[in-house]
Amino acid sequence: MKRVRVRLPGRAYPILIGPGQLSRLGALIDTHVPGSRGRDLLVIADSRVNALHGATLLRGLEERFRVARALVPPGEGSKTLARTGRLYEACRRHALGRDGVIVAFGGGVVGDLAGFVAATWLRGVDLVMVPTTLLAQVDSSIGGKVGVNLDGVKNMVGSFHQPRLVVSDTSLLATLPVRERRSAFAEIVKCGMIADARLLGLLEREADAALAGDPRILEKLVAACCRIKARIVAADERERGAREVLNYGHTIGHAIEAAAAGRLRHGEAVALGMRAAARLSEELGHLPPAGRERQDRLLDRLGLPAVARGLDAGLVFSKLKWDKKVRGRNPRFVLTGKVGSATLALPVEEARVRRALDALLV
Ligand SMILES: NC(=O)c1ccc[n+]([C@@H]2O[C@H](COP(=O)([O-])OP(=O)(O)OC[C@H]3O[C@@H](n4cnc5c(N)ncnc54)[C@H](O)[C@@H]3O)[C@@H](O)[C@H]2O)c1
Ligand SMILES: [Zn+2]
Repeated sequence: MKRVRVRLPGRAYPILIGPGQLSRLGALIDTHVPGSRGRDLLVIADSRVNALHGATLLRGLEERFRVARALVPPGEGSKTLARTGRLYEACRRHALGRDGVIVAFGGGVVGDLAGFVAATWLRGVDLVMVPTTLLAQVDSSIGGKVGVNLDGVKNMVGSFHQPRLVVSDTSLLATLPVRERRSAFAEIVKCGMIADARLLGLLEREADAALAGDPRILEKLVAACCRIKARIVAADERERGAREVLNYGHTIGHAIEAAAAGRLRHGEAVALGMRAAARLSEELGHLPPAGRERQDRLLDRLGLPAVARGLDAGLVFSKLKWDKKVRGRNPRFVLTGKVGSATLALPVEEARVRRALDALLV
């Protein structure tokens, strides 16, 4: 098992990474969440994940805790205020008090949604993240960003609410559909591009094993990404500066994801966004061509898309306007100056952004 600590003052928490942890989740919560003994747990679970792994989870929890469960239908469509409201009702039905603990059991959707419920129910209760997708293990379960979508606009309503504990059981990834695993590689490439050239090297050497789902390699990749994200979040919890680099590839990525309305996975859209961001970095004289080529070659090798079909450029562009990083007229982009480092977001002229977008849309 690998262990990474998110060193936030007064609210530091561990991320435990490795196979077979679900069956002893109760003991892990008992050990790592001070004062948790005897408290009520509400597990908010993705219904598909629950069907696959729910019995193991319950076995691991019930010997130590009184456990209630609320199920959420799979998919981005569940990240809504309506679903949040139903989960508040579940909290009330199960009399979850201020000392209750919410356990998020699923991918990024359930993490964001259950995290938002935990942030707001009775003005905030403790949260334990048990991420079950590769994307959630490398990214969304860490750092405390929680929230839901509004009218199809991603993450419009949300909060910061750090978990007390993250348990990333890598054996759960064995049941993950190939497309889900593949799309998460985009976030791993992102971590390498912004913070760690060695991680890119590892992924380049082990791409075939990673694609095949080799648990040893996945554990290494999850731990490497957690270390990077933990460091960045500890330096800037509320994204006032340093944390912004995690949005590399996400300015255009989020816009494409929204315009694709469910046809592209988050990571697939981010892969496209990174291709655009690297292109802009190169055009603006930050990144040598070899850096962009290295990134794009790795994305190709991992089977991540180079173009998006059937999307209207005007629609994507209008979604871009909603990006949080737009201040004033020009969209802002995290750019990279060399593989393994990134700048804070800089404004990029609209016409240039439009050209970078056009290169992705066929
Ligand atoms: N809060 C953050 O910092 C942050 C960061 C990145 C992404 N996100 C959010 O995360 C969401 C995407 O998360 P995701 O990619 O994990 O998608 P997801 O939660 O929709 O899960 C993807 C699919 O995999 C299934 N699944 C999950 N675990 C499984 C398992 N072990 N075996 C079999 N099937 C399994 C789910 O039922 C679902 O159908 C987006 O809403 C995105 O905005 C948040
Ligand atoms: Zn992302």
